[in-house]
Amino acid sequence: MNKSSETSIPLLFLHGFPFDKSMWSDQVEALNAKGFRTIAPDLRGLGAAVAPTSVSELSDQNHRPRSVPLSTMEDMARDAGALLDELQIEQVIVCGLSMGGYVAFEFVHLFPSRVCGLILAGTRAPADNDQEKAGREQQAQTMLRAGMVPISIATMPKLLASKTRAENPDVVKRVREMITQSDPSGAAAAQRGMAARRDYTDDLPNIDVPTLIIVGRDDLIRPISDAEFMHERIPNSQLEIIEDAAHLTNMEQPEKFNQVIIDFVRQAAGLS
Ligand code: MLT
Repeated sequence: MNKSSETSIPLLFLHGFPFDKSMWSDQVEALNAKGFRTIAPDLRGLGAAVAPTSVSELSDQNHRPRSVPLSTMEDMARDAGALLDELQIEQVIVCGLSMGGYVAFEFVHLFPSRVCGLILAGTRAPADNDQEKAGREQQAQTMLRAGMVPISIATMPKLLASKTRAENPDVVKRVREMITQSDPSGAAAAQRGMAARRDYTDDLPNIDVPTLIIVGRDDLIRPISDAEFMHERIPNSQLEIIEDAAHLTNMEQPEKFNQVIIDFVRQAAGLS
């Protein structure tokens, strides 16, 4: 964390799944060097953050109810709010990528007066359909049974553009390590929390802060159509498409990503 000389509005960065705060290191370093204040916590159950506490009733294959721990998007948003209280920060610009975007929607909903700008990267507003929910439960069970390596093998090709995979071995290594070092039970709880998230579509017209929507041209997980859906419904929003990037735009094209968020933050703070 770093005190701001450029703008007094700190940026709160919310990471994706199954990652941790280190996915923002290129942003934190570049923005701190320019005098912005940044806060990038590990979200519940991931990185070094404490284990989940909520419990959900699910049905097993034989339709018997059973309780499983889960970390909801609301839990994560409330954790971020408590962290800001601790740091005595009243207002922030919230930047969430993918799962971090779902947490950002909850944060704006819970604490509207604390948000003066929103950055939504590689995310979407609608909830999961039944097939997607079932896929998440299957993935949660794989993590609990076999650890994170199978997930890393299965998701890597979708997370990074082919150009990144071919030309940027450091990013490939960082992403692989973040996934394989995640705690399987924390990751399974977050995966179940995402399955339980609500549909944020009705929130979109009520978002009344400047909003920047970022999407990678090659994102297969949250494609451009998801970004356009949000852009059409959030009144004061702008859309940026990042070339040569898939899902992890901030890691694949950090300079471009940093430039668009710095321009946006200056605009939102009335500095340009
Ligand atoms: C992420 O990167 O956070 C995930 O792709 C989100 C999701 O599975 O919906």
